[in-house]
Amino acid sequence: MKYVTLNNGVKIPQLGYGVYQVEPTEAGRCVNDALGAGYRMVDTAQAYHNEEGVGAAVKKSGIARSEIFLVSKIWISNYGYERAKASIDESLRRLQTEYIDLMLLHQPFCDYYGAYRALEEAYREGKLRAIGVSNFQPNHFIDLASNVEIVPAVNQVETHVFCQQIRSKEYMDEFGTHTMSWGPLAEGRNGLFVNPVLKEIGKVHGKSVAQVALRYLTQRDVIIIPKSVHRNRMEENFNIYDFELTPDEMERIKSLDLAKSAFFDHNDPETVKMFMGWRAL
Ligand SMILES: NC(=O)c1ccc[n+]([C@@H]2O[C@H](COP(=O)([O-])OP(=O)(O)OC[C@H]3O[C@@H](n4cnc5c(N)ncnc54)[C@H](OP(=O)(O)O)[C@@H]3O)[C@@H](O)[C@H]2O)c1
Repeated sequence: MKYVTLNNGVKIPQLGYGVYQVEPTEAGRCVNDALGAGYRMVDTAQAYHNEEGVGAAVKKSGIARSEIFLVSKIWISNYGYERAKASIDESLRRLQTEYIDLMLLHQPFCDYYGAYRALEEAYREGKLRAIGVSNFQPNHFIDLASNVEIVPAVNQVETHVFCQQIRSKEYMDEFGTHTMSWGPLAEGRNGLFVNPVLKEIGKVHGKSVAQVALRYLTQRDVIIIPKSVHRNRMEENFNIYDFELTPDEMERIKSLDLAKSAFFDHNDPETVKMFMGWRAL
């Protein structure tokens, strides 16, 4: 496993396991399988309603807490200083842990400045080992990162071969903030799993399309958290450090970039309206 050092010195596995759209009743089994496959980082969120299952599986695993890196995110209904502060304690309780390794603000909407102050405070108190944001486009990211005391360690944004975040990553690099990819397989959108370029490159290395797509991101120094509920796919997605893409292959994959979201554009007013409707998730 490769580790990446965040801007506060904390080390995070470059490859973790995401549990978005994993049913609360399935979360325990899935995290248990993922830990068995070798994953040591799990990415959950208040809005996924499965922090309890994640925490229980980690506890039951018998693996030392210090060896597992837990990531969670505050949902927008818990923004504002007071609510965010209380919700961090709730997440700690649900995850059955005394500290969360990385806590993010899930979306750049509502009172995220107030919520970020609560993150900073919990960080100073030792409840959080690192703090950051998610889905902050460069405009919101630069604004926030320039006006807080603790610069975000991570910005978790949609990043895959069709939405490579080349410019966005350059801005984050300026602040020493790591790019963490959500949707590293684009949830299979845009025909990712049958893409001819990825297939051809995979054939050369004896690797699957998914492995090539994930390896590409790690070679760009992106942290990734692919999700699967299937043990064989968890293993497949984990097994990406025994080959290396050549500079030519990297260029060919770079050319697949459409530089736009396969899901929704955070700068579109209709997206903002959609999130306002999800405040009560
Ligand atoms: N911050 C945010 O706003 C945000 C948004 C979305 C996601 N995330 C985080 O990022 C994680 C990953 O993103 P994601 O879950 O949206 O999508 P993803 O990891 O890009 O793709 C997951 C999908 O691909 C399938 N899959 C996984 N591995 C495969 C393989 N080797 N071959 C074929 N199919 C495969 C999975 O199906 P099966 O499960 O059926 O195998 C699932 O449908 C999430 O779980 C979550 O932790 C964060």
